[in-house]
Amino acid sequence: MPAIVLVGAQWGDEGKGKATDLLGSRIDYVVKFNGGNNAGHTVVIDGEKYALHLLPSGILTPGCIPVIGNGVVVDLAVLFEEIDALNARGIDTSRLVISANTHLITPYNRVLDKVTERFLGSRRLGTTGRGIGPTYADKMARVGIRVQDLFDESILRQKVEAALEVKNQMFVKIYNRRAVEVDEVLDEFKLYTERLRPMVVDVALLLTRALDEGKTVLFEAGQATLLDVDHGTDPFVTSSNPTAGGACTGSGVPPTRIDRVIAILKAYTTRVGEGPFPTELLDDKGEFLREAGAEYGTTTGRPRRCGWMDTVVGRYAARINGVTDFVVTKLDVLTGLDQVPICVAYDVGGERYDEMPMSQSDFHHAKPIYENLPGWSEDISTCRSFEDLPANARAYILRVEELIGARVSTIGVGPGRDEIIERHSLLG
Ligand code: GDP
Ligand code: IMO
Ligand code: MG
Repeated sequence: MPAIVLVGAQWGDEGKGKATDLLGSRIDYVVKFNGGNNAGHTVVIDGEKYALHLLPSGILTPGCIPVIGNGVVVDLAVLFEEIDALNARGIDTSRLVISANTHLITPYNRVLDKVTERFLGSRRLGTTGRGIGPTYADKMARVGIRVQDLFDESILRQKVEAALEVKNQMFVKIYNRRAVEVDEVLDEFKLYTERLRPMVVDVALLLTRALDEGKTVLFEAGQATLLDVDHGTDPFVTSSNPTAGGACTGSGVPPTRIDRVIAILKAYTTRVGEGPFPTELLDDKGEFLREAGAEYGTTTGRPRRCGWMDTVVGRYAARINGVTDFVVTKLDVLTGLDQVPICVAYDVGGERYDEMPMSQSDFHHAKPIYENLPGWSEDISTCRSFEDLPANARAYILRVEELIGARVSTIGVGPGRDEIIERHSLLG
């Protein structure tokens, strides 16, 4: 039985939550391995809408065990708020487990995220302001606070003191703010310590044993390939590794155990926050995609920037993640267009690029080279097999498949759980 990694192919919000939920009933464990409450996944079940941030989307499937890996950063207040909200709607969250090595988002890191963005002014990244970047920075600088630290009061105090020694110099001397007291940080942690204790496990051991027993494990990425801190459009990225390799480092399951990599690719492209975006549309076509696709952020409510399908990005995602299967989502949103352009390559200063330019400066200057395919006007939301789709919608998928170099196994034709076309099984 397989270990499957599920990643976003573009700049996020491709529909990873729905895809995870779709697989839910066929998997035993769903593992979130990177990011934190910067993510926002909307899942629609029987017309009921659920917005998840920190919890793996598998939490909505009875029987599936949701796991938060060591690669995630957790804001405890948000975690329990989300758990309580789901419980109030009758969702059982009692199976949730979390790694002892997961880092915690502290109040001073939330503040730091916001003040740094403010200080950057026009050079800001457009972060979600949730403290994600500063918390990963602390982890790398080895001054972070981990879940297991909560259970050793003296270590916890020492670590918070050490972190605040430097942070408070910055708050007071650079940002002209008041210093943060050690006790106010400890008091916030104390609110959640006992509630958290029974959920804490050795995630690496748990998952390896589960795989040994033939269980199916799905690793669900937050964010996406081009937001990856190593392989994305730095500096306009998040601070973790949402690419397939991150599933291993973020959970403790080795690469030799991974069987499949599924990438979610929206039928067009969106981006939230700053940074280069070659196929971005600043005209009425972009507005059409935003309105037809309801492209407003699940986490911050910001309107998402919209543009055409970029298969240079798709090919890059296939290569960086080792994609075995693509899920193309939101094909229904393209219904009603006369022509559907696909970006097949870039022009950078008169030179054609079929692959992502190596240099970020070139990527900033990339002009899309389009192929225009004929559109379709039929409602496709009730199609359940590839043959049900209008000929032009089929031709669009087949051309995208050819350009991105991996099979398109599933196609999304609406937000609902059943609004999909399965061409090949995602489980192999
Ligand atoms: P995620 O962050 O990758 O999980 O994606 P989001 O949930 O932020 O954004 C995807 C949005 O598209 C959600 O509102 C989904 O309900 C919706 N969605 C997912 N698949 C489809 C689809 O095939 N068609 C349509 N119309 N909406 C979809
Ligand atoms: P899901 O999982 C889209 C973007 C932010 C910003 C940049 C850095 O729903 O696809 P951060 O707060 O992470 O330091 O912000 O990354 N960003 C996302 N954009 N979808 C997301 O998650 C995102 N998570 C972060 O807008 O540009
Ligand atoms: Mg999202």
